[in-house]
Amino acid sequence: MQQLIGRLIDDHRHLSRVLDCLRREMHGFSGSGEAPDMAIVLDIMDYIQNYPHAFHHPLEDRIYQHMRPHISDPEMLKMLARIEEQHGELQQLTTRLQQDFHAVSNDQAVPLERLLSDYRDYAELIAEHMECENRYLIPAIEQYLDNAELERIQRLLEERKDPIFGGQLLSQYEALYQYITAEGQGR
Ligand SMILES: [Fe+2]
Ligand SMILES: [Fe+2]
Repeated sequence: MQQLIGRLIDDHRHLSRVLDCLRREMHGFSGSGEAPDMAIVLDIMDYIQNYPHAFHHPLEDRIYQHMRPHISDPEMLKMLARIEEQHGELQQLTTRLQQDFHAVSNDQAVPLERLLSDYRDYAELIAEHMECENRYLIPAIEQYLDNAELERIQRLLEERKDPIFGGQLLSQYEALYQYITAEGQGR
């Protein structure tokens, strides 16, 4: 149980670190910092698609589906349903933002207003989402997830590690990892 909860909390912490880097690069678009490093920005979006969206959120959806029949608290059910809905919204916002950044890096004209508002929409929702999960989903796991499902999930956790923070850095994220580490040292 603690392994699963620890993993979800770690994933949130790691994503927050990555998002801090994205926020820093976004200053470059709004004209209040150095020019954005597009290679890093694209790596960040790639990571978000590759781990949080491809593994972390689907895992949370699976946990929710499994717990749902055992939960009677209407407030809890409402919040967990909202979390699931946010996963869909986040996927759309991430894809839109990633397309914006790809267009910028291919020298296609992207209205700055749209870029900034797409970023803002995503950044606000992901922050609200992780807070909501820490407050509702994680306590619900302790209360409602049964051992048989927990064992199955633990196998999945072993099979799929975070490609940056999971102990074996995927080579495509080396530059991003260096960047994140430097950021942590007050870059
Ligand atoms: Fe999530
Ligand atoms: Fe999450």
